[in-house]
Amino acid sequence: MLVELLHLLVTPVPFAHRRRGHLRESVLLMSRGRRCRSAWAPHLAAARAAILDACDGLPQRRVAVVLGSGLLQDVPLADLAARFARVDLVDAVHLWPARLRARAHPNVRLVTADLALRTDRPDPLAALCGGADVDFVVSANLLSQLPILPLDRPGFVPPDLGNRIVRAHLDGLAGLRARVCLVTDVEQIEEDRTGRVTERLDLLHGVRLGTPDRRWTWDLAPFGEATRHRRLIHRVEASLDWRGP
Ligand SMILES: C[S@@+](CC[C@H](N)C(=O)[O-])C[C@H]1O[C@@H](n2cnc3c(N)ncnc32)[C@H](O)[C@@H]1O
Repeated sequence: MLVELLHLLVTPVPFAHRRRGHLRESVLLMSRGRRCRSAWAPHLAAARAAILDACDGLPQRRVAVVLGSGLLQDVPLADLAARFARVDLVDAVHLWPARLRARAHPNVRLVTADLALRTDRPDPLAALCGGADVDFVVSANLLSQLPILPLDRPGFVPPDLGNRIVRAHLDGLAGLRARVCLVTDVEQIEEDRTGRVTERLDLLHGVRLGTPDRRWTWDLAPFGEATRHRRLIHRVEASLDWRGP
C-alpha cells in the first residue's frame, strides 16, 4: 500500500494521463504482477520469446518501437537494445522500475503518449512508428487495455467505442512499413474450482485478428487474487509479422 502510494506521488506523468487514470492502473498492474509473479511467469516468457523471434531475419535493425512497454515485464529489453540501434518505449505511464531499467541502455528512449483512438487528434501510431528508419514495432499486450479507461469514464459512452478503439489500433499497425509483432490477450475466461467456465469476456469487442502464429494462456488472477473461488485466465495470441486480419 505504501509502495503504491509512493509510486502515485513520485512518478513523472502528464496531468491528463493521471486524470484519465493511467497512473493508477499502472500501479495496480504492478502490484498484481508482484503478487502473481509465478503464475504470470510462463506468459511473460512466451511473450518475450515471440517478440525476439519476430525480429529475427530483419534486413535492417535501426529503430524498434515497443507500444505498451509498461513495466517491461514481457519486453526483452536488453536483447532489443543489443539488436537495434535505437529502441523507443511508448506508454501512457513509465513507472520508476521501467525508467531505471531503460537508463541502463544509452540507446533506449522513453516516449510518453496516449495510444488510444481520440476524435480530436490524428492517429498517434503514424507519428510514433511511421518513420522511414523504424524497422520493427511491437504491440506488447496493449490492445485489450486500450478501451478499458475510455469505456470506464462517466457520462455517455457510445456502444461501439471499444470496437472502434481496437480497430483503430489494428488499422494503425496495418498501415506501418515496419514489421509488426502483435501480442495481445483476446479473451477472459472465468473458472470455478471444479474447472467449470462461469463467464467468458471478449477482450477485443468483437474484432477478430485472423490466425495467430502462437497461442497460450495467461493465469491472470489465480484463485484468491480476484475472488476466492474463481480464477481468471486470459487467452493470448501472438502474430510475429502482423499485416492485418
Ligand atoms: C498489460 S500492460 C502491458 C505490459 C507491458 N508490456 C509490460 O511488459 O509490463 C498494458 C500497458 O498498456 C498501457 N496503456 C493502456 N492504455 C494506454 C493508452 N491509451 N496509451 C498508452 N499506453 C496505454 C498501460 O499503461 C500498460 O503499461
